[in-house]
Amino acid sequence: MDFKNLIAHCKEYGFIFPSSEIYDGLSAVYDYGPYGVELKNNIKDYWWKSMVQMHENIVGIDAAIFMHPKTWKASGHVDAFNDPLVDNKDSKKRYRADQLIEGYVEKIEAKNLKDIEKARARFGDAFDEAHFRATNDRIIERQKQIDTVLDRLAQAMKAGDMEELKAMVDEYEIVCPESGSRNWTEVRQFNLMFSTQLGNIAGEEGKLYLRPETAQGIFVNFLNVQKSTRQKIPFGIAQIGKAFRNEIVARQFIFRTREFEQMEMQFFIRPGTEMEWYHYWKEARLKWHKALGTDPAKLRFHDHVNLAHYANAAVDIEFEFPFGFRELEGIHSRTDFDLSQHQELSGKKIQYFDPELNESYVPYVVETSIGCDRMFLAMISDAIREETVPDAEGQDSVRTVMKLHPVLAPVKAAVLPLLKNKEELTKAAMDVFDKLKLSFICQYDEKDAIGRRYRRQDAIGTPYCITIDFETLENNTVTIRERDSLEQKRVHISEVKQHIQDGIAMEQLFV
Ligand code: GAP
Repeated sequence: MDFKNLIAHCKEYGFIFPSSEIYDGLSAVYDYGPYGVELKNNIKDYWWKSMVQMHENIVGIDAAIFMHPKTWKASGHVDAFNDPLVDNKDSKKRYRADQLIEGYVEKIEAKNLKDIEKARARFGDAFDEAHFRATNDRIIERQKQIDTVLDRLAQAMKAGDMEELKAMVDEYEIVCPESGSRNWTEVRQFNLMFSTQLGNIAGEEGKLYLRPETAQGIFVNFLNVQKSTRQKIPFGIAQIGKAFRNEIVARQFIFRTREFEQMEMQFFIRPGTEMEWYHYWKEARLKWHKALGTDPAKLRFHDHVNLAHYANAAVDIEFEFPFGFRELEGIHSRTDFDLSQHQELSGKKIQYFDPELNESYVPYVVETSIGCDRMFLAMISDAIREETVPDAEGQDSVRTVMKLHPVLAPVKAAVLPLLKNKEELTKAAMDVFDKLKLSFICQYDEKDAIGRRYRRQDAIGTPYCITIDFETLENNTVTIRERDSLEQKRVHISEVKQHIQDGIAMEQLFV
């Protein structure tokens, strides 16, 4: 399914709505609907349990969004959390200069891809892309150009050299996609933190920031948590919560928004052991993704070349979204940067006494950080598909189905009386529903023909449909239709709950 239809499906079936839609929406802000909130909660639950419940040495917290403003000075966000901003004077549109330059590179690469496709069509099965790239003069020339531009961009970004970025925009004759003009302002640093004002203090002193990452709530609570839980290093602190970034360009649905949720875990370790733990968490996190049955070809690692101000190693787990491979999760070796900075700015000692070494030190940190909304988008884009399947009469029909892992599915089971106007059936179905609703999210649906009701459940990813028919009245059995295989099993009513519970149990993801 293409991306536009995926977004339309999310709205039509109550997963995601544009925010304040009656006022024409607010750019890049979204609300989660009845099925969206269930799916999102299930994602969070899986993450939380895999971190906190499954590790005796990881505990959770829920820190406030507002933090003392010095937090952000210490973390480097006041000085270094910037994107290079440029305005087009004609369209009045804002862009990130680095993204404009990347767009220029993509256009060169697109020319290469076009030549490659032409050659592939000409040579057929005998075509060897790697050989063609290495020997074709035009491709070699363009690749050199790409490497030069990317190298220049990386250096300018690292040095924070705004003049160089402006020079590149001018030199490569980059035009505004909206106005088509090259009438650009200077490139300047734009801080991504949203700020607001404390009620009882005027001026700069009362300036507060909405946290741009949840991690800092963990760092400033390091000693509180360690002392109150008597954890010994290595140990971790996990948190799920909202983060805010005033992204210059927010786009691609819920992929990049200005308000989003993060699931972060900081793992505190002995200095010198960071590479060992970095590799451990890299593999552990990939395993977490794969356990959901996500197509492994859609997941890959991407090592960072340009490291954030706090990191000495960093890797992304990328997912192949409908618009290409993009970052889904980051694993960062953050050294002792944050704790040392907080120690310095607060004037409070933030150290751990290691009884085995008989010495105190500022712990090092490996963090895993994943956006909940991005994980949501990854899961629905991997799950949704259109399939031709036999309908109730055995004729081919097309269904839209969300093949979400049953653990993540918003509704676990739908209870459907075969006919609406037969009281014996609706009553028996209601009895089943009332029993099951104590254990998991179920739906009762009696409207429309049974085939249409199955399709509605397929469209929201319900793994099990339980049909109550005339045989139920005779022998207390029901049919359970399985979403993916379409298999229908007859099961005694007393076994229905267990049957579903086995299918949706989170334990299966942890083994
Ligand atoms: N504490 C480290 C940190 O915040 P990051 O790579 O900037 O690192 C971590 O963000 C994750 O948060 C990303 O991998 C992504 O999933 C999510 N994320 C970041 N910015 C986002 C945005 N504007 N919208 C949605 N998700 C975002």
